[in-house]
Amino acid sequence: MLKKKEGYVVAVAGATGAVGVEMVSILEERNFPVSELRLYASEQSEGKQMEFHGKNITVHKLADDSFEGVDIALFSAGASRSLEFAPVAAKAGAIVIDNSSAWRMDKDCPLVVPEVNSHHLKDIPKGIIANPNCSTIQMLVALKPLHEAARIKRIVVTTFQSVSGTGKKAMDELMDQTVALLGFKELPMKVYPHQIAFNCLPHIDVFLENGYTKEEMKMVHETHKMLDPDIKVTATTVRVPVFRCHSESINIETEKKLTANEARAILAAAPGVVVFDDPSRNVYPLAIDVAGKDDTYVGRIREDESIENGLNMWVVADNLRKGAALNAVQIAEELIK
Ligand SMILES: NC(=O)c1ccc[n+]([C@@H]2O[C@H](COP(=O)([O-])OP(=O)(O)OC[C@H]3O[C@@H](n4cnc5c(N)ncnc54)[C@H](OP(=O)(O)O)[C@@H]3O)[C@@H](O)[C@H]2O)c1
Repeated sequence: MLKKKEGYVVAVAGATGAVGVEMVSILEERNFPVSELRLYASEQSEGKQMEFHGKNITVHKLADDSFEGVDIALFSAGASRSLEFAPVAAKAGAIVIDNSSAWRMDKDCPLVVPEVNSHHLKDIPKGIIANPNCSTIQMLVALKPLHEAARIKRIVVTTFQSVSGTGKKAMDELMDQTVALLGFKELPMKVYPHQIAFNCLPHIDVFLENGYTKEEMKMVHETHKMLDPDIKVTATTVRVPVFRCHSESINIETEKKLTANEARAILAAAPGVVVFDDPSRNVYPLAIDVAGKDDTYVGRIREDESIENGLNMWVVADNLRKGAALNAVQIAEELIK
């Protein structure tokens, strides 16, 4: 565990990426007690400047000696960098909070969403804590209180995930393809296997032997590790031409009956959740409204009339904030409590 200090030396690996930029601004916004901030990225970002509390900080190339004296290392530089450098940082004495998929299923690395399982932070045998996949985080923030109230037996989820979930190059691709299509020009296509502008791709991460994608199986395995191994989970993950925020259609079957009104009341009292649900006034969560927000928004809460005890809902959160950077900083806040 971390020794209590007035200020902590914090390193961000992948500081120039979609998630890293958000990490730096969230550390500042939430006034995290940082005595020194060190920023790392690839060679091509060496020398870039990023602002933190009004001061320019120079970005350096991530290297083996980047973590001497670091207390907390936030990683968002991709899984291969995490596999290589997270143990280096932990060996140098830092607690690593890793955003990639590299350590999530390692039994010695707690996988944590503070609203769901902060108690898993008691034991950090490798000095590495994993941040779950963005689509799992928002689903479990919304489902944990319902599981406590009525015991969820099965989850059927379909995601509508924004391109920022793939990183900054994918955001550029959506923008460039949109401009090209409207100008009748040839489509730039570098990140996705198909056109993403004005299209939906039922394909996130690689396909596995069982016909599911790795992203879909992450939602299954991470739910089991964090919430309950007995819950049956099936997922379909879809990339949509939205810049920011993932939306999810979630169906749950519970042991105990919950009416839609009971579910609304439970969710309204839950940490990190905003119930935004008044269809008579066209009120339901939208990606464009939730972008930049910290909470997970839930709407369209209704009973599933095809089964005895079931609910449907629509859950939206900012994948770069709660789905990644904010969750990592919240874990750091738990560590220094
Ligand atoms: N985007 C999301 O919603 C989201 C959510 C949860 C988890 N994550 C995970 O977070 C990680 C970063 O995602 P992102 O969306 O921020 O990607 P991104 O926009 O592509 O940024 C990648 C970052 O990694 C750095 N990097 C790349 N190669 C490197 C190397 N060889 N050495 C050091 N740094 C290197 C990049 O530096 P340069 O700028 O110098 O290239 C950049 O700072 C990924 O593991 C991703 O799976 C992302």
